[in-house]
Amino acid sequence: MYGLSGVCVLVVLWLVVVRATFLGRFRRDDPESGVSRSNHGNQGGNQGGYTRIDADVDPECFMNSSQLIADNGYIPETHSVTTEDGYILQIFRVRPKKEKSPVAFLQHGLTSSSDTFLLNLRSSFPFILHEQGYDVWLGNVRGNIYCMNHTSLSPQDKEFWDFSFQEMGEIDLPAMVDYVLKVTGQKKIFYTGHSQGTEMGFLGFSSNPDLASKISLFTALAPIARISYAKGLIALLKEFVDLEGVLYWLLGNGQFDPPSEVALYFATKICPEDALTRGLCETLDALASGFDISNINQTRYPIYRAHDDQSTSTKDIIHWAQLLRYKRVQKFDYGSGKANMARYNQTSPPLYDISKMRVPTILVAGGNDWLGDTRDVMWLIKTIYPSIVKVLFIDKYNHDDYVLGMDAPKQVYSPVLEIMGAFVNGSKGYQFLTNSERMERLGTVDLGSLWEF
Ligand SMILES: *[C@@H]1O[C@H](CO)[C@@H](O)[C@H](O)[C@H]1NC(C)=O
Ligand SMILES: *[C@@H]1O[C@H](CO)[C@@H](O)[C@H](O)[C@H]1NC(C)=O
Ligand SMILES: *[C@@H]1O[C@H](CO)[C@@H](O)[C@H](O)[C@H]1NC(C)=O
Ligand SMILES: *[C@@H]1O[C@H](CO)[C@@H](O)[C@H](O)[C@H]1NC(C)=O
Ligand SMILES: *[C@@H]1O[C@H](CO)[C@@H](O)[C@H](O)[C@H]1NC(C)=O
Repeated sequence: MYGLSGVCVLVVLWLVVVRATFLGRFRRDDPESGVSRSNHGNQGGNQGGYTRIDADVDPECFMNSSQLIADNGYIPETHSVTTEDGYILQIFRVRPKKEKSPVAFLQHGLTSSSDTFLLNLRSSFPFILHEQGYDVWLGNVRGNIYCMNHTSLSPQDKEFWDFSFQEMGEIDLPAMVDYVLKVTGQKKIFYTGHSQGTEMGFLGFSSNPDLASKISLFTALAPIARISYAKGLIALLKEFVDLEGVLYWLLGNGQFDPPSEVALYFATKICPEDALTRGLCETLDALASGFDISNINQTRYPIYRAHDDQSTSTKDIIHWAQLLRYKRVQKFDYGSGKANMARYNQTSPPLYDISKMRVPTILVAGGNDWLGDTRDVMWLIKTIYPSIVKVLFIDKYNHDDYVLGMDAPKQVYSPVLEIMGAFVNGSKGYQFLTNSERMERLGTVDLGSLWEF
């Protein structure tokens, strides 16, 4: 359908090629590749960050989160949070104008990092929040470039990579929230998640009432809970869910890290080269998130590319493919009744009942979002009905526009800030409306016939 199979074949070829050739050639610290980023995640080695900077490449391509914050004129802080199972997460703070400011916590999405929020100069959401008086924190989850350290394991150990977004929502998220509350002395935070960061919220807040009680407002950018209709790369992978061996061969056994070296090489060497190669890069990008790049600042494209595609576990990717395949929000499926029994004391993976979530929530969804398909968003609206404060539906938005789009400050941040302000200033506690009251209000959201799904 939609010529998608042809596209899929290309993607498979691309994955295989990446796996077979590039990964071998552009290893971390390989002097031949001209791309070294070993210190980016602070895993020892020299203290120079990326080691090679070409004059014609924007230095922002090579900056880590703390450098990006400083480069825009703010004061960065780096903090380490150790989870109960030993992962050491490095999270960032934009030092607030004054102590005791309300806390805004931003959580990045799949194969991404805190960098993603910081790539549009002073129009980036964290800086806008800072200017509005918030104490801004940027989370990172196990397995990305800032979270490669552990109290007893090393990324070379297969056990290190035995996690998916399930652990990110159940373990990393409460650990980071508790840490931030302790440092700031606040009782609650404003949580903003993008993509997988929203799933962490949905499953974390619905299954952990203590965590939920610490969230004053949840802003879900590109909300994904159930992903039954997702298109693109993940959709292709779901075909292989039953053949886990194939998936592990394609994606790597343990760490899913196709991209960082290759992506940086593409971003700084190949993409800017000429219109043709740039088109190729943009197409690869579009495949993952939706075909439309008209809303991004073209001159900043290499910077976005350089910071995209961070590592995670292969298990995380497979868990996403399982959600798509089984059309449910559930824990990781170990593939047999016996294996599930050993983990969960039941033969099938437990479901997450996200309808139990009671956190005031703003959903910001896009009509051109391949991962957050509108039909899944409608399902989500119906499921978490009592919690919804507002739905912002932006027809042309794809999966990345919420953080990278040129008009995001106007279309997204400004209305969100208005609601956040109302929560800071006053509202003594949000009233969870009944379904019929909510239905009435939602009447103002123009999603037309989409209610059918
Ligand atoms: C960011 O890069 C700077 C400069 O290389 C380095 O000193 C710092 O440790 C890095 N921070 C993190 C969290 O990786
Ligand atoms: C990793 O964590 C250990 C503590 O478990 C610490 O001693 C070590 O310095 C950390 N390594 C890096 C590179 O941050
Ligand atoms: C695009 O980014 C460049 C800097 O990389 C900036 O100078 C320019 O103003 C941006 N354009 C728009 C339309 O935001
Ligand atoms: C496993 O499930 C059974 C039946 O649902 C229950 O009786 C038992 O207590 C459970 N065992 C554990 C360790 O949770
Ligand atoms: C709270 O209200 C005051 C006074 O109306 C206003 O100056 C301030 O910006 C508001 N705070 C937020 C976070 O909107």
